[in-house]
Amino acid sequence: MNEVQPHNLTPLTSMPVKKELKGCVRVPGDKSISHRALMFGALALGETTISGLLESDDVLATAEAMRQLGARVIKDDDGIWHVHGVGVGGFLEPENALDFGNAGTGSRLCMGLVAGASIKCSFIGDASLSSRPMGRILDPLREMGVVVEASNGDRLPLTLKGPDLVLPIDYQVPMPSAQVKSAVLLAGLGSPGITTVIERVMTRDHTEKMLQGFGADLTVETAEDGTRTIRLQGMPALIPQKIEVPSDPSSSAFPLVAALLVPGSDITIENMMLNKTRIGLVETLLEMGADIEITNRRENGGEAVGDVRAKYSSLNGVEVPEERAPFMIDEYPILAVAASFAKGKTLMKGLNELRVKECDRLSVTANGLKANGVSCEEGEDYLVVEGGMVEGGGIVSVHMDHRIAMSFLVMGLASKKPVKVDDTMHIATSFPNFESLMKTLGASFQ
Ligand code: S3P
Repeated sequence: MNEVQPHNLTPLTSMPVKKELKGCVRVPGDKSISHRALMFGALALGETTISGLLESDDVLATAEAMRQLGARVIKDDDGIWHVHGVGVGGFLEPENALDFGNAGTGSRLCMGLVAGASIKCSFIGDASLSSRPMGRILDPLREMGVVVEASNGDRLPLTLKGPDLVLPIDYQVPMPSAQVKSAVLLAGLGSPGITTVIERVMTRDHTEKMLQGFGADLTVETAEDGTRTIRLQGMPALIPQKIEVPSDPSSSAFPLVAALLVPGSDITIENMMLNKTRIGLVETLLEMGADIEITNRRENGGEAVGDVRAKYSSLNGVEVPEERAPFMIDEYPILAVAASFAKGKTLMKGLNELRVKECDRLSVTANGLKANGVSCEEGEDYLVVEGGMVEGGGIVSVHMDHRIAMSFLVMGLASKKPVKVDDTMHIATSFPNFESLMKTLGASFQ
């Protein structure tokens, strides 16, 4: 079941920018918030409206899954999404397996949702998703009473059968993972008691904030050492919300870094989410000497947002502290590209989790750097990049990973020779208009 499903590769080459990158753009909505908005809307009783939803393959798979579970999900002529939720405990058993394609967040959070409803449901995905570990989700769900049928060492395809009553558990998340934290909390919604999730290292907190926003009784206690204890009272009546999805900082990272690397550039990303658990990359780039300015700071839909301006900068290598990893976990490939152009070495530590993303991002990033003449050292959980002039001219194998593809396309905008990526199909999972948006700033691709 885990063999790679062949598809026609759609390669793309980015060309060194002759002039500069200039302009003011708005990148699509945040992927983490978009998945959750659809899911929590489906769990609330009544109509939730969502503006600025990211309409990418991953998120559309979640929308379809919510429909299959009984929610009505439609988009109106003004681009607003309407989710008519069924209430906690109201999901119907879907007729077919839920197909999550490439989406780790959609599938893992939905496993929690299904576990909290006493229905049987199967999950399938593409070759990348089918090779990713699901035991981290299934272990706590088993403790909560879910019956799991999975083959291939707790990987997709798998089937879950939720218990009549979910057991409330106390669960310490073994690795820094917002997906695991969220899946346990979502399963806990179906429990008559209090589910407690403990995370020693803080990860993105959208599930906690949004569940509170939907009216759940959820508290967070943070100890002096940073350990967070999250308590959720099960079986809440969730109240439908009006959600505005801010722009995704993980997608914004690509034009931002491109502007820092291409001489003469000056770009602004409007309305970017500035939640502190998501902007470790901006902090790191500032430490590297980046000219980044945040203006028009405001609150939008419960999240801090602002306009982020980045100008061409001469960057210096830095040591990125291990504790920052959860706050920039998806940004290491593009940071590695930025580091390739910096003066001196950049050391990135605490990267174990990169090995289980859409691909093994640590080794695929290192291979992409080497293919373009950048020297680097790949350790078990670290990466050292030796910066300088980047030759380019390489062909990068992206292994079904959207962020690898976009990172190396950014590299080719600033390297001496063009950079080719072997496949761009998966860019549509998170940033469908990446190519056209970069072109409006002055990039060219072939
Ligand atoms: C996400 C959590 C992170 C991140 C992913 C989105 C989320 O995954 O890499 O892109 O929305 O909860 P992990 O929980 O595996 O760290």
